[in-house]
Amino acid sequence: MHWTKSIAACALALILGLMATAARGQSAQSNSENLKDWWKNAVIYEIYPRSFQDSNGDGVGDLNGITQRLDHLKELGVDAIWLSPIYPSPQADFGYDISDYEAIDPLYGTLADFDRLVAEAKKRNIRVIMDMVMNHTSDEHKWFQESRSSRDNPYRDWYVWKDGKGETSTDKGEPPNNWQSDFGHSAWEWDAKTRQYYYHKFYIKQPDLNWNNHKVHEAFKDIIRFWLDRGVAGFRFDAITTLFEDPQWRDDEVLKDKNGQPFKNAYGDIALNDTMTNNLPEVHSVMQEMRVVADQYKPNEFPGARVFIGETYLPNIAELAKQYGTPEHPEFQLPMDTQVGFINKLDVAQFREKLNDVETRIGDNVPLLVFDNHDNPRLDARYGDTLHNQEIERAIATILLASRGTSLFYYGDEIGMKTTQPERVEDVKDPVGRTGWPRDKGRDGERTPMQWDDSINAGFTTGTPWLPVPPTNATVNARAASDDPYSLLNWYKELIQLKKTNPVMAHGANVMLDPGNPKVLSWMRQTAGAAPIVVSVNFSAEPQTVNLSGGNSGLKAGSVKTLMKSPAGSDPSSLDHIELPAFGVYIGQVQ
Ligand code: NOJ
Repeated sequence: MHWTKSIAACALALILGLMATAARGQSAQSNSENLKDWWKNAVIYEIYPRSFQDSNGDGVGDLNGITQRLDHLKELGVDAIWLSPIYPSPQADFGYDISDYEAIDPLYGTLADFDRLVAEAKKRNIRVIMDMVMNHTSDEHKWFQESRSSRDNPYRDWYVWKDGKGETSTDKGEPPNNWQSDFGHSAWEWDAKTRQYYYHKFYIKQPDLNWNNHKVHEAFKDIIRFWLDRGVAGFRFDAITTLFEDPQWRDDEVLKDKNGQPFKNAYGDIALNDTMTNNLPEVHSVMQEMRVVADQYKPNEFPGARVFIGETYLPNIAELAKQYGTPEHPEFQLPMDTQVGFINKLDVAQFREKLNDVETRIGDNVPLLVFDNHDNPRLDARYGDTLHNQEIERAIATILLASRGTSLFYYGDEIGMKTTQPERVEDVKDPVGRTGWPRDKGRDGERTPMQWDDSINAGFTTGTPWLPVPPTNATVNARAASDDPYSLLNWYKELIQLKKTNPVMAHGANVMLDPGNPKVLSWMRQTAGAAPIVVSVNFSAEPQTVNLSGGNSGLKAGSVKTLMKSPAGSDPSSLDHIELPAFGVYIGQVQ
């Protein structure tokens, strides 16, 4: 390493260390009050356990592996980890097909390993959030095994069964309607033994539960209690908007082009608007019931208030706002805002509009911003331009962590891991990629092993990794990044420290600035009685200069103190003249 770099690295480590100590001191003082609100300005980190750290050499990540890596998360400054499903599962959808909700898949370890992870995480002030899949189970779950065994089995009505159209004793007829699986083709699967179709919004091996059956509600309340009793801090509710289906079983609308021709999707099916199977209003009362269960747990003791996060891909802010429920009947504290993070192009006007929406149209609730997860190509593929990917990822991290609210990011984002798609269909592991190949190569590309170092298996496993380690690990890895003061990893750490230690950053409102600027997104964080903070992010490959004084901001030209800036950036002499390099970022506090 270059000497000046190494001196800068030591200085940065020292500053981050001092800031972390200050932050810990602050949280120690007001611990019990903060516990109930821990999630309001939190940083949540998604772990895909198969791919994070393998501890036993079988090539698949596991719970003990996560425990070994907790210090990485502590240094990063995260408040909670969300684990995608670790329950026993045939792994047809890598854990989203659950066959037992109250145990751990041996691939990942044991309940004792889980308890140890929760305890070790607690020592580092990190909470554990489970994935909760209530829309469907595995077809190998005992409930479904019972349900499909005969039409009069007591579990028959736990799933969605229906006669085919035109079915006779010798002919299965046609599926009951045109509903499609999100994983391709009809959502109805014929069951020869009991001569009916069952409904599956996702894979054939993921039959949907029938939420019109109250016994299903009670079963999930028990499951939720089981995990809350073990000390988990909450749940991320999977596919929650798809719990209910149209009670009249009406066809979904066919999407057509301007010539009246139906669109085809990646699976070669006719594209549908799935309003009959998505975002039905009945889901609200289910979430209210579940919140009553979670709210019985003491919010003033670690892990604090138990939090519900929603996987809420919704069409607009009004629908998102409904997911919070009301103060009398709360639902999610943190439904994901997928409108900002999945714009999928660096369009300043859209970002401004969507960030403004979530600031002004969800009442007193807290936004949960998210840009990335295990179901979407990574940030490079959706926002990168190949030439400036690292600067673009720095810009996105800034929007995520310097906006008001809670921030959720995906393992590997902090080091700029890239999407690495399989090259041959025979290498594809994800059922989505096998059905969609080659138009949809599936989700393996964003699930490759965490790149800890530049060794052959990236420090992930001593065995053969379940998905290949991308060759980028030679340069993109956590070890190299932590030694480089200008790395994305250190940018994440600094942003998180700022979010935690600066009160204006922690809770100040977001006010959009310079609203006509087509190249630069600027906003101000503002609380009464404190100097505002300004943030500018250049969305273009050309240097830009912005003037943040005047206009709606009420800010006057004058000095501003730099809090963070891109490596190639400079300190402005005044608020009316902030220079930004290509995709550069500036954060400063008005003096
Ligand atoms: C959303 C999950 O994130 C995804 O990975 C899964 O395949 C579907 N829900 C079905 O559970």
